[in-house]
Amino acid sequence: MTGSVEHLLEVDQSGHAERARVIEAIRKLKADQTRSADTHLHAMRIPAFPGIDLYLKDESTHPTGSLKHRLARSLFLYGLCSGLISEGTHVVEASSGSTAVSEAFFAHLLGLPFTAVMAKSTSPSKIALIEREGGKCVLVDDPADVYSVARALADETGGHYLDQFTYAERATDWRGNNNIAESIFEQLGMERFPSPEWVVVGAGTGGTSATIGRYVRFRGLTTRLCVVDPENSAFLAAFRDPGCGETTCGSRIEGIGRPRAEPSFLPDVVDRLVRVPDAASVATAHFLRARTGQLAGPSTGTALYAATKLACDLHAAGQEGSIVTLLCDDGVRYLDTYFSDSRVAEQGWDLDPYLSVLATARDDGVWTG
Ligand SMILES: Cc1ncc(COP(=O)(O)O)c(C=O)c1O
Repeated sequence: MTGSVEHLLEVDQSGHAERARVIEAIRKLKADQTRSADTHLHAMRIPAFPGIDLYLKDESTHPTGSLKHRLARSLFLYGLCSGLISEGTHVVEASSGSTAVSEAFFAHLLGLPFTAVMAKSTSPSKIALIEREGGKCVLVDDPADVYSVARALADETGGHYLDQFTYAERATDWRGNNNIAESIFEQLGMERFPSPEWVVVGAGTGGTSATIGRYVRFRGLTTRLCVVDPENSAFLAAFRDPGCGETTCGSRIEGIGRPRAEPSFLPDVVDRLVRVPDAASVATAHFLRARTGQLAGPSTGTALYAATKLACDLHAAGQEGSIVTLLCDDGVRYLDTYFSDSRVAEQGWDLDPYLSVLATARDDGVWTG
């Protein structure tokens, strides 16, 4: 007999106590989801378009008031299941506000310290909501610095940077698992046009558009995806020329539009991108409130303005069908900003021309914008 047997080198880092704590944290997240109801899909009645049904998926009714509730839950689950978050982990995020509000809720649920890094222009009411959940806020002068400051803070404290802008597109299971796309399509199941012509959404991380774009392909649907983009956002340039690397000074519509094309924005699953003037976004939020009593944030205005134009286009072409867009967050958060006449005037936004475009579209079915 020749040679010798080399012993196996075994490096065991398993810890039963640690695994048990992660399992318990995941149970708490699942229990919270099990206690929660789904969000409504409101049908908007527009007499001028008898052949077109417009729907608003009302994401403002999540416990933390925005569609970011879904993302925050997914990011915590992703961090826990990937071994990146455990007991006592300091969780850090870069945010324009809404995601951090939702993440502060989940960090509190799990008993984890949480810090949000945000631009100093973030609405005071969002800061108050984060602090109410026990989160801390670090405010930076330049919105473009939020990423590096958040990463550095996580590194310095041995924490975990959730990094919604990178992980949104993969933390959510786009095949289903009660994601926003599956929820919308199930709720449309009994409608006269269950497979919409268009789904219209904004992009913050780009995660929602990535989920919907992938889901419609996976389900074999012909529904097209329209992303709306506010002024001074980098998504438009990235859609025209992926990889162009253009950066901008950043959007004035909270929640959507970014100074750089975020890694979670997947232009290949988007059919059309529409740039919407900021005054039109704000005017549409005012219009929605005046006509329906529904108080929604300005990014809902961005999406609804473009969705109304698409409805007019279908109507003008003699087509029938449905269009879905999102009511992304609760307008109560913006009473002192986008719904304040003095703040609107300070920004130089003239809402009247857009209010008149919307009134003509709604009452006569004609787009004059
Ligand atoms: C109109 C609208 N659509 C979509 C989103 C989705 O954001 P994200 O791209 O981060 O999924 C937002 C975020 O606030 C929004 O306001």
